[in-house]
Amino acid sequence: MIPHISSETEAGSTPITVVEEGDFENWLEGQPDRIKGWVEANDFKAKNGKHLLLPGEDGSVASILFIQNMDGWNIWSLSSLPGSLPAGVYHLEADLKEKEATEAAAGWSLATYVFDRYKDMDKCFATLILPKAADEAEVARLVHATNLARELINIPTADMGPRALEAAASQIAGEFEARQTNVVGEDLLTYHYPMVHAVGRASAEAPRLIDMVWGDADAPKVTIVGKGVCFDTGGLDLKPSSAMLLMKKDMGGAAMALALAHMIMDAGLPVRLRVLIPAVENAVSGNAYRPGDVLTSRSGTTVEIGNTDAEGRLVLADAITAADDEEPDLLIDFATLTGAARVAVGTEIAAVFTDDDALYDGIYRQAEAVKDPVWRLPLWDDYRSLIDSKVADINNSGSTGFGGAITAGLFLKEFVEKSKSWIHFDIMAYNNRARPGRPVGGEAFAIRAVYAYLKERFGA
Ligand code: BES
Ligand code: ZN
Ligand code: ZN
Repeated sequence: MIPHISSETEAGSTPITVVEEGDFENWLEGQPDRIKGWVEANDFKAKNGKHLLLPGEDGSVASILFIQNMDGWNIWSLSSLPGSLPAGVYHLEADLKEKEATEAAAGWSLATYVFDRYKDMDKCFATLILPKAADEAEVARLVHATNLARELINIPTADMGPRALEAAASQIAGEFEARQTNVVGEDLLTYHYPMVHAVGRASAEAPRLIDMVWGDADAPKVTIVGKGVCFDTGGLDLKPSSAMLLMKKDMGGAAMALALAHMIMDAGLPVRLRVLIPAVENAVSGNAYRPGDVLTSRSGTTVEIGNTDAEGRLVLADAITAADDEEPDLLIDFATLTGAARVAVGTEIAAVFTDDDALYDGIYRQAEAVKDPVWRLPLWDDYRSLIDSKVADINNSGSTGFGGAITAGLFLKEFVEKSKSWIHFDIMAYNNRARPGRPVGGEAFAIRAVYAYLKERFGA
């Protein structure tokens, strides 16, 4: 089931007539006077993405006029329609290729997502007959994964703490017969995840390391690490209230990891997949870790705590060390890591860090092709000295806030040794404003781009 997409035949549904922006005058010329008059009476301007209900002779809605520009189709092309057309069933009258049809249908469905777990939103949407050229399984895959990420992020921490996040991972693992191990609470010390424990121990819910493995042991190893800070108060270096308000989304990296894993497993990509999620709450309590503490990480690197609000890199570091141990072909991490990345590229672009030019080029190309924007920032080695510590191997926060996304990336890089290739995504995981197909709230970032890249690189 794909929300608001139907696999029925077109019979009885209302056609959406697609007219190219530059072709509009021509098209209008060929219409009966009734339509010409209607278009004029509505003062309709043929601009990309605009639509107009066209009347039949009996006064019913006979069809929808939809204007599309020459740039072609993308995932968001139809996204303004489902919420603005009268509820009902529609079909496209346009000659789309497979990728176009698949994406346009996905964008239609994605526009109908509503976070209604706690309240009946009473929203109606129009339904689209799946265009003939579309790959239905792929539409379902893109929509399901994106909505999964949105939902995990939107659910407030009271219902999406470390335990619930583990349960969400288990459900996905179960769906695809992936093996899952969870290292919980004091066991984190026994099994050497000391920084996951230190960051998460002040919470009423035990911190944990979720470790999921799927696929053929001999296939190329792709490992995804996601920051699962279910709530980030900032710890003892407490965030101000305005900055704390949205921090239920600080497990956005984990949501990306699970959603991307879902796509990979559902598509059956021939890779050996591993997903590692440190799931914690960065809380305040008598046993909270403190500014000035020195932690010994899983790798043995000692870390001076300059700021307990730079907790994401600590829990990621231990997970990255665990991932790195088995020398994956590709190590990907997703994290709502820094406010600085948001200052650098804004809230709607994923900031990306990697030393692998070919990997970046491949992902950037797919990001463009699937409209899931990424932009590279440098792992500028000369800034490594900004996170030097006098008492430990490294400090978890910079001596200056400048270049904060870069120093965070350099911190993570310290724990990547044996992986053949590594890429780090610093993401917002949230729409601050609504755009077609993308309501305000939790959002998937960069996972469609990475999925497209993995398909191209490893696809059977
Ligand atoms: N979760 C935050 C980063 C964040 C804030 C992401 C707002 C997206 C939007 C992270 O744990 C954090 O607090 N980082 C600090 C690091 C600093 C103390 C070195 C930051 O970015 O200010
Ligand atoms: Zn923080
Ligand atoms: Zn955080």
